[in-house]
Amino acid sequence: MNYLVLVNKQNKIKDNYYDDVKFITVKDATNLDIEVEEITYKAYLKLKEFLETKNIYINLLSAYRSLKEQQDVLDDYLARYGEEYTNMYAAPVGASEHHTGLALDIGLYIGDKVIIENYDLFANDSIFKEIHKYLDEFGFILRYPENMESITGYNYEPWHIRYVGSIAKKIKDTGLTLEEYLDKYGSEL
Ligand code: DAL
Ligand code: ZN
Repeated sequence: MNYLVLVNKQNKIKDNYYDDVKFITVKDATNLDIEVEEITYKAYLKLKEFLETKNIYINLLSAYRSLKEQQDVLDDYLARYGEEYTNMYAAPVGASEHHTGLALDIGLYIGDKVIIENYDLFANDSIFKEIHKYLDEFGFILRYPENMESITGYNYEPWHIRYVGSIAKKIKDTGLTLEEYLDKYGSEL
């Protein structure tokens, strides 16, 4: 299992990626079944539990997406937000990191409200900034940081985190995006 697999606009998911990945089925923020890579989910639960000690309450908006589910996201974004926004926030089919099961979109609970829409998530960016401080301790990186659109291909997404394992600390220390890190160091751990 390669936790450093790169999936982006230039590198689409390969069929053989699924040969040695173990998915489990869990509940999302709206109590629907979603799939996620097993170790990623365990790390998510640890992150979630830790954040609760800081009075931050997170939920899972999206994890693994099939090609069809990514098409559904694109259709939904196109209808609601138009083409320009869609290109900045949704990957073409086959090019989404969500196909790996290692990428998670995190929503928030604030009081009795469930925060799940992009606009509302951005309005709570200060909470995400706090979350981002601890991601590496649980094996995650912030995959689409601010001002890195030209490299990652996407706008800043405070909610989209990516499991890479213990190398997350090293990636964070370099300040590089996953694209830049892999380009510079390869996938050596
Ligand atoms: N929102 C990210 C870029 C995706 O659709 O995979
Ligand atoms: Zn995402």
